[in-house]
Amino acid sequence: MAKRSKSSERWLQRQRKDYFVRQAQKGGHISRAHYKLEQIDQRYRIIKPGQRVLELGAAPGGWTHYLENKLRGGMLIAIDSLPITCGQDTRVVEGMAGDEVVDRKIDDILDGEQLDLVLSDMAPTISGVRAVDQARVMDLADTCFEYCQRWLRLGGVMTVKSFQGEGLDTWVAGLKKSFDKVNVTKPKASRSESREVFVVAMGFGD
Ligand SMILES: C[S@@+](CC[C@H](N)C(=O)[O-])C[C@H]1O[C@@H](n2cnc3c(N)ncnc32)[C@H](O)[C@@H]1O
Repeated sequence: MAKRSKSSERWLQRQRKDYFVRQAQKGGHISRAHYKLEQIDQRYRIIKPGQRVLELGAAPGGWTHYLENKLRGGMLIAIDSLPITCGQDTRVVEGMAGDEVVDRKIDDILDGEQLDLVLSDMAPTISGVRAVDQARVMDLADTCFEYCQRWLRLGGVMTVKSFQGEGLDTWVAGLKKSFDKVNVTKPKASRSESREVFVVAMGFGD
């Protein structure tokens, strides 16, 4: 059997110890990410039955599963280039957010309707160079905001993953021109050593 690298061995050990990983396994959830969305939703009440939701960076499907249970009768469009485990009513678009082909497919599915909620848990491929990774995650957050400008209804909500660091404060300040309320939150299920945070922007103006 191939020998594991030290970093993958460390990752495995951390996974075994992690409370939310164990909870996800016990509760039959696809990933520990499930708890991040659950905690954001418990705090801000962003997901309601019947909504039209666009989920960016959906694989492997932890958030998708949570959304399917809460939307009951709404519409969920889930985007990722990797496989998403989901129910048959979820509209999966395979590809990268920001690509024209993906945009056209979203347009076709929405057929002129608007969204209530745009969620992004998109994460860049981590290079290990902090400035590069920060720029990449901010680019993904920009794509998410562009999607809001295109398809989010007035009063709608955006929730997007980012990293604490260069450019985040300025980006959040800019969002306040387009949303009534903007909060930066770190759910308990997000590892304390990670710079990951979520921006929850409510009451879209334009
Ligand atoms: C942290 S994972 C998402 C976990 C997911 N929320 C869950 O609960 O299972 C990040 C995902 O973002 C996806 N991603 C990164 N860039 C993307 C892009 N431009 N468009 C769509 N997905 C992207 C990756 O493929 C990866 O699956």
